[in-house]
Parts: sequence; structure tokens; C-alpha cells
Amino acid sequence: MGAEMQNEGGAETRGLKRCQIWVASSSSSAPTTPTSIIEKAGVAHKINFKEGHVLPFLTSFLKNENKKGTFNFVFVDGDKNNYLNYHKRVIDLVKVGGLIGYDNTLWVGSVAAPPDALLMDYIKPLRIYVLELNKYLGQDSRIEIFQLSVGDEITLCRRII
Ligand SMILES: C[S@@+](CC[C@H](N)C(=O)[O-])C[C@H]1O[C@@H](n2cnc3c(N)ncnc32)[C@H](O)[C@@H]1O
Repeated sequence: MGAEMQNEGGAETRGLKRCQIWVASSSSSAPTTPTSIIEKAGVAHKINFKEGHVLPFLTSFLKNENKKGTFNFVFVDGDKNNYLNYHKRVIDLVKVGGLIGYDNTLWVGSVAAPPDALLMDYIKPLRIYVLELNKYLGQDSRIEIFQLSVGDEITLCRRII
């Protein structure tokens, strides 16, 4: 679904700041598993990998006051029908000044298509959820947002309050 990154302090490791990365995914049975990628990259010691639906994982983090407002960066790239549910949780986990990235926020361009446009089967049912997220982000006074024109776009949100 995505990665959430927390600083572990200022110590430097080979020029990189030491950090903790949390990755939640429901796809460890895929041919190339997140764990195998993490091991191949030689960063397993920095990554806490959780397998399963990410919502309970985020909810458990929110119950821990020590986790709230501590994440530097959250990247969301999973089930579009839950993007808004993710935002309502990760906004309290990311620190003020921290970033949240939402992938595919133009949803293959479909967000600008007329309601009766012919769209591919996997695009059409999720379009409404991406529109819902975009509208919410545009009105959320806790963040400022900008669009990164990578693929079908990433919306980057910076928490400001
Ligand atoms: C489009 S892939 C992107 C993966 C990764 N960002 C990448 O670029 O390799 C979406 C991933 O989200 C996972 N996913 C979908 N819904 C999820 C959920 N509710 N909880 C956790 N992971 C989920 C899928 O299993 C899949 O691995």
C-alpha cells in the first residue's frame, strides 16, 4: 500500500540519515514480494514490514500517542476506494512539515472525463473515490498541496498545522 518513514535521530549511515520505514501491503504472495525487494536492496534492518490490510495497522498507530505527529513521509499507493479513509488517519500521524504522497490522483486522466465517458472497467468504479479524495484535499486547511506530474500524477500534501 505504501511506506511510512520516521526519523530515528540524526545519526548518519553511509551518508544517509538513519530512519525507520514502515511498509504495509496485502500482497506478500505476489511473485516478487515486498520482503524480497527489501532484502535485495539491503535495507531490511531499516524496514518494518507488515502484511495485511493497512487500515487496522493505521488505527493501531493512532492509539499510540507516541506515534502521532512523528512521520516525516507517508506514501499511499493502494486501494483507491480507501484513499480518503487513509488520509483521515495519516494526517494525524505525519508531523507538521511532513509530507503525504497520494499516487494516481488523475486516475489515468479519468477525473477530468465527462460522467458518461467510456472508461476501462478497472478505472470507472474507482473514479468517484479519487474525485472524492481530490475534493477533500483541496478543502483541507491542515495541508497545502501540489501536483507532481509523474505518471497519472502524485498529489503531495504538506501538513501545515
Ligand atoms: C499499485 S500497487 C503499488 C505498490 C508499490 N507502491 C509499488 O509501486 O511497487 C498497490 C499495492 O497495494 C496493496 N494494497 C491494496 N489494498 C491494500 C490494503 N487495503 N492494505 C494493504 N495493502 C493494500 C496491493 O496488494 C499492492 O501491492
